[in-house]
Amino acid sequence: MTAIQRSNLLVRSSNSAIIKSMTQNKLILLPRPAARGRFSLEETIAKRRSVRTFSRGQLSPVEVGQLLWAAQGVTAKPGNFYFRSAPSAGALYPMEIYTVTESGLHRYLPEKHALELMMERDLRNDLSIASLGQEPVREAGLDIVICAAYERPYSRYGERGKSYVDMEAGHIAQNVHLQAVALGLGSVPIGAFDDVQVGKILGLPDGQYPLYIVPVGHVG
Ligand SMILES: Cc1cc2nc3c(=O)[nH]c(=O)nc-3n(C[C@H](O)[C@H](O)[C@H](O)COP(=O)(O)O)c2cc1C
Repeated sequence: MTAIQRSNLLVRSSNSAIIKSMTQNKLILLPRPAARGRFSLEETIAKRRSVRTFSRGQLSPVEVGQLLWAAQGVTAKPGNFYFRSAPSAGALYPMEIYTVTESGLHRYLPEKHALELMMERDLRNDLSIASLGQEPVREAGLDIVICAAYERPYSRYGERGKSYVDMEAGHIAQNVHLQAVALGLGSVPIGAFDDVQVGKILGLPDGQYPLYIVPVGHVG
């Protein structure tokens, strides 16, 4: 789907022992994110490179939790409001983050720092096919899919709101890439995929669109 088509649509409308991970009502509470890492910010920027070859193996809950915190975790809570790790025009936070792993499809809930189970099926192969067969999507332990609900930015900012959402996806993806480096992992931004196919595979609700896929995995 092209940006114009999307715009038109809008107009119309383990480790488990060391962590406190527990499953309750299909919610997986993620471990509290670390506030310090092994590398300086400057080192992570200098080390970041697109990595397209991963060794087999799943990511630990600690790693998944840290990556999702970097993507959209809550970093300040003045009163009843939740600010997240990446900037958002008007603090509208129109993004939904999904994880695709061996164990299934989950949605990240920033305020709970938890994963909600959406589908108990490994969708990485389907996602890779929808991404022009790109291997990193199939081979990564974790695919983070950044999706957007354009409605609120669109109603506040009009056409400009669409650009704001797309810009925000870049902020989120870069946070994930840098966090991956800081964890000793590799990642690559994937923009080449069939939006409609990816939406179907993930079962996205009306009004949500996939913008970016970030495979993350072990290197070497
Ligand atoms: C918007 C965007 C989309 C991209 N899509 C893909 C992609 O579909 N597949 C891929 O292998 N790399 C993709 N890349 C990664 C670029 O190829 C990569 O960033 C570039 O070659 C520079 O290398 P570096 O990331 O190691 O600095 C994308 C990068 C951006 C910013």
